[in-house]
Amino acid sequence: MSSKVLKEVSIRIQELRSRINYHNYRYYILDDPEISDAQYDRLMRELRELERKFPALITPDSPTQRAGALPSKTFDPVPHTRPMLSLGNAFDRNEVEEWMERVGRGLGTREKIELVAEPKLDGCAVELIYERGLLVRGSTRGDGMVGEDVTWNLKTIKDIPARLKGRHVPDYLEVRGEVYMELGKFEQLNRRQAEKGEKLFANPRNAAAGSLRQLDPKVTASRPLNIFIYDVGRIRGVELESHLRMLKALNELGLRAIGRAEFCESLEEVFEYYDRLTEEREKLPFEVDGIVLKVNRFDLRQKLGARTREPRWAVAYKFPPREEVTKIIGIDVQVGRTGTLTPVAKLEPVRVGGVTISRATLHNEDQMAEKDIRIGDYVVVRRAGDVIPEVVKPIPGRRTGKERRFKMPETCPVCGADVVRPEGEAARRCTNISCPAQVERWIKHFASRAAMDIEGLGPKLIDQLFDRGPLKEVSDLYFLKKEQLMGLERMAEKSAQNIIDAIEASKDRPLGRIIYALGIRHVGEHVAEVLAEEFETIDALMKARLEELEEIHEIGPIVAGTVYEFFRNEGSRKIIKKLKEGGVKFQAVKKSAAGRKLSGLSFVFTGTLSSMSRDEAQVRVKELGGKASSSLSAKTDYLVAGAEPGSKLTKAENLRVKVINEKDFLELIR
Ligand code: IVH
Repeated sequence: MSSKVLKEVSIRIQELRSRINYHNYRYYILDDPEISDAQYDRLMRELRELERKFPALITPDSPTQRAGALPSKTFDPVPHTRPMLSLGNAFDRNEVEEWMERVGRGLGTREKIELVAEPKLDGCAVELIYERGLLVRGSTRGDGMVGEDVTWNLKTIKDIPARLKGRHVPDYLEVRGEVYMELGKFEQLNRRQAEKGEKLFANPRNAAAGSLRQLDPKVTASRPLNIFIYDVGRIRGVELESHLRMLKALNELGLRAIGRAEFCESLEEVFEYYDRLTEEREKLPFEVDGIVLKVNRFDLRQKLGARTREPRWAVAYKFPPREEVTKIIGIDVQVGRTGTLTPVAKLEPVRVGGVTISRATLHNEDQMAEKDIRIGDYVVVRRAGDVIPEVVKPIPGRRTGKERRFKMPETCPVCGADVVRPEGEAARRCTNISCPAQVERWIKHFASRAAMDIEGLGPKLIDQLFDRGPLKEVSDLYFLKKEQLMGLERMAEKSAQNIIDAIEASKDRPLGRIIYALGIRHVGEHVAEVLAEEFETIDALMKARLEELEEIHEIGPIVAGTVYEFFRNEGSRKIIKKLKEGGVKFQAVKKSAAGRKLSGLSFVFTGTLSSMSRDEAQVRVKELGGKASSSLSAKTDYLVAGAEPGSKLTKAENLRVKVINEKDFLELIR
């Protein structure tokens, strides 16, 4: 056999293996195959056939040699062909200037040296290897010499192409970049973790690293990861002469090259870039812990070379850190606008990320307990972006024994009302809907478009009315005088009158809107509408028993519970009374006839139905606007009698309730 044939076969085999691996990944990991099973089988068959004919070409990692189609479940070591170095740090302008002098000496020149400044991302460094345009391996940095094979996990990241595109695809390419998680997505992930009772991540960097090192790539796939590429290791088939050209070439290949890289002619420009990014840092969606300064030209980099762990041609100019250590001197409890009680740590003031902080959130009692945070503890505090500073963890090694655990209060620290902790929730809440901490937000909701739609009464005006006194709770709106409005900023007689008119008009809003306006937890517009249709009047709703609420189709036990609690609450009842006194009509709903053919009719079932279960029948009745109840009374309109009816049949006859059979019923709901 000629070596030419062998070479051709070997190339074909390689290609088949890459394609099969790629389709395995689409199928098993992403649940999103791109080809049919038959097409997949054809590829597999061809590969098997070739390997049968040329057994010397069989390799242990061929897809034909694996029992399952999934890759192994542990991370294999991957030696980096060139070490993945770290960076020297500079913490002030002086240190940057010193670095620049060293570079000048190293190159033996006093001439200007082209520099590039770019963000230093705070994530997890990885290397990707592309052979003939296909992603064949991805690894973590590890100790810089040997990393871990996380190819399958990296393949789940949408920013990482499985295949390079463009006209100049190199034969071989190693790129390095930073896998990171955006701040907002990190917060979301932690919220989800907390809900599931799983471990929280201390910061986005840990979340990114933890997500990358999952044994099951499906878990990685469910985590919102991104990558920025900032460096090329070895490359064959394409020449690159500078960093900026490289970034452009990477983008053309479909890789996500790091953004905001800027050419700098002097250190002045570098410092200006640093200052600009320091300001932007707060608004960036991801964490940046400094800037990286790099010599632009690769020939100069070559000349400069590297020290043991860091290249001489680059330096990191760090931002002030996001995390600091300080002491908790006390714990306060804040009541949020939804009534949620949040423990907040009072701190010995400390500068974090350029800002002095003296308070940081502890989130809730579960987190406080889980992290075992005590008054007197030294703790790691962290602030990032717009996020409220938080206590990350205590440093138990610094305890003296004088630290005290904190217990959440049983009553609201603002109004003194009882506090409850609803089942399944991590937060305690104040039960008083007129609690000053909650009421302002409630009034804003009440007046908003989807609720009572009081035109002109926006949040700013409500703030003023609240601060100056006329508004203490929602029903006060209906006792407002024009004169009270006229004293406020930018409020002439005409606009004051308009608002009084708008308040007047809101008295006619239909019941569903008012129920929504009451701001009951879990009661959105739709649920409010369902309640209005079901009960028709506010009085009926206020009297509803818990079981009645639970029986309503579309209303689950949690919602039923909060609605029931709301109307049991003395404070709520008072406010509804005052709203009525103020003239709010709580207009009963006019049910739409269409699609609600059973509206106003009530049904009771007895015996077995042959075409559906009794539950299903009740649901159908409710869907059509009727009521389905289990107890018979003179108010019942129909008793539906199935096979083997019980004692209800006689009772119905006594009560003169109309009895119908299953066929009649089906006719009615048809
Ligand atoms: S260049 C040989 N550029 O910082 C120099 N690194 O402290 C290679 N990093 O391990 C690094 N953003 O994980 C470079 N724009 C950037 C970077 C960056 C973040 C990380 C990288 C590296 C670490 C060094």
